[in-house]
Amino acid sequence: MTQDASEPTMADETDHESTFGASLLEHEDAAPQNPTDNPTMGELIGQRFSRRGLLKGALAVSAISATVGTVALETAGQARAEGAPSAFAFKEVEVGVDADHHVAEGYDAQVLLRWGDPLTPDAPAFDPARQSPEAQAKQFGYNNDFVGYLPMPGAADPSAHGLLFVNHEYTNPHLMFPGVVEVKDGKPVMKNATEERFRIEAMAHGATIAEIRRSEGRWALVRDSRFNRRITVATEMALSGPVAGSERVKTQADASGRKVFGTLNNCSGAMTPWGTFLSGEENFHGYFSGKLPEGHREEANYKRLAIPSAPYGWGRFEERFDLAKEPNEANRFGWVIEVDPFDPHSVPKKRTALGRFKHEGADNIVTRDGRVAVYLGDDERFDYVYKFVTERRFDPKDRAANLDLLDSGTLHVAKFSADGTLAWLPLVFGQGPLTPANGFTSQADVLIETRRAGDLLGATKMDRPEDITPNPVTGRVYVMLTNNTSRKPEQVDAVNPRAKNAFGHIIEISEDGGDHASTSGRWEILLTCGDPSVATVGASFSTDTSRNGWFGMPDNAVVDTAGRLWVATDGNNVKETGRTDGLWAVDTEGAARRTSKLFYRVPHGAELCGPCFTPDDTTAFVAVQHPGDDGPDWPEFGRRSYYEDLSTRWPDFKPDMPVRPSVVAITRKGGGKIGV
Ligand code: FEO
Ligand code: CA
Ligand code: CA
Repeated sequence: MTQDASEPTMADETDHESTFGASLLEHEDAAPQNPTDNPTMGELIGQRFSRRGLLKGALAVSAISATVGTVALETAGQARAEGAPSAFAFKEVEVGVDADHHVAEGYDAQVLLRWGDPLTPDAPAFDPARQSPEAQAKQFGYNNDFVGYLPMPGAADPSAHGLLFVNHEYTNPHLMFPGVVEVKDGKPVMKNATEERFRIEAMAHGATIAEIRRSEGRWALVRDSRFNRRITVATEMALSGPVAGSERVKTQADASGRKVFGTLNNCSGAMTPWGTFLSGEENFHGYFSGKLPEGHREEANYKRLAIPSAPYGWGRFEERFDLAKEPNEANRFGWVIEVDPFDPHSVPKKRTALGRFKHEGADNIVTRDGRVAVYLGDDERFDYVYKFVTERRFDPKDRAANLDLLDSGTLHVAKFSADGTLAWLPLVFGQGPLTPANGFTSQADVLIETRRAGDLLGATKMDRPEDITPNPVTGRVYVMLTNNTSRKPEQVDAVNPRAKNAFGHIIEISEDGGDHASTSGRWEILLTCGDPSVATVGASFSTDTSRNGWFGMPDNAVVDTAGRLWVATDGNNVKETGRTDGLWAVDTEGAARRTSKLFYRVPHGAELCGPCFTPDDTTAFVAVQHPGDDGPDWPEFGRRSYYEDLSTRWPDFKPDMPVRPSVVAITRKGGGKIGV
């Protein structure tokens, strides 16, 4: 979800829910949580440019802007001169805002799974006026985010029959339920959650595993599949890796410190080479309420993560979410979970070796020597980019031997330098400052307080790291930095070069020796985002990019099998940019580098998540999240959108059916690879 909305959109009945809608957590996140004065590289920048005789000291900021501009101009000139042969061939979609979604000409966008769709044979049909926790637990959840696809073993066509894994990040009660919003003194006000509403919302969080099959060009759920499964906040999971059994994760309900119920705010994720799914627990702080007992050891730890935060306040309904009653429960969230979808009874594992923070995704790639590198973003303003490298090698011939690969290895945090180099600093107990002198008595402590460990190592404060996507064809890695309007002019640095960065940027990393296990690399900025026709924005799209082609707020990203980059966005301001979020195709190679084209756009109020291609690139699955939210941003609607008065009823467009977050399957009419 976007964190940049600055105005509360509706008056509230109580202070339990200070805002609602897409804003449920964004206001809580608005305050950056990194208290350190780790250098933002201003000094290093000064040195770098001084050496070039370009500037000194305080002039650094304007000089950086000038440098970005120069790069963009050179690229643009080159693009024009060489005719910029793009890797993509499709007629791009026109930007705009309306109640429906739109895909490029010649393609079909089929709604495959909608919130409330029954998943299991015994699941009831969706009845929005009479939803229940029991029904929701067997139906597709809310606010689909990450989408992953794994072919069914032995499938005649691996790209026509597989398991889909979908995250359900959070809930929007004002769009989900009748009677939640009432108008008082002309203002829409959201009522407090009831216990029943809480229980439904809890069951609408988590993830879905669904067997799907394509026949005659249409995808469909295999309704009687034994693999179809909901994962919710009630699903039993195991804490696995160095933190399992730590005193700091033991609770009244779990004296072992190894057994956790549920997962929260699952944002992005990834597939692994051994056929499992990873899913990141992101804004988990927003579910906890209450106060830690005075002087509790977790005070600093929780403050660094903004725990508790008001939006959901589930401690009202379930004691474990109340810090006063269960002070350690919040240490059991903020991890990457791993799920084996091919065993419908598998217990998901929280892979603690990958650190604890507001995890976006966990995209990964096999290293030169056969280990696995997992790239991890901590989505908060001024927080860090991480990489985990397994200790052991991936064995392509022995799936079972890989199932616990992610329990041992080394987590690193990124330090970007102004000379274009990058160091991956190991977060290992006993090394450097990660010692008892700083309160760490074990690797479990380092992992539970990953952010503080990164602070002490002097990691680089980034503009909200989202998906980090390795490109198996070129070996380069793409880091989505979605925005950071809190960055002040004196805080800009080479790798986060814009103050009040409203549109975000994309960094390209080349690991040294082309090896993803390397602890050093080089980086450059692929794209500074935003409208290139507005000089003050400082966007660096090529001049071959049309007015439809530019975007802001890169969030999710995927590289197709041809090695081409696709970027999904979160938060393009409808009123200011005249465009909804969508899926853009971005050239990264040759003369067309930095040329972008719009392939698909979402209905009003939505963001786009989870692009995922089948192995043959003939289907792209995308997730349309929180359609119909907001409202005042779209002048044609002009008022707050809620269940009884929605800005869109996508995808059903029936008067008795609310707007429904949905996964969409995009295919080429008549078949064939997408975008070529
Ligand atoms: Fe849930 Fe970082 O987006
Ligand atoms: Ca998002
Ligand atoms: Ca995201």
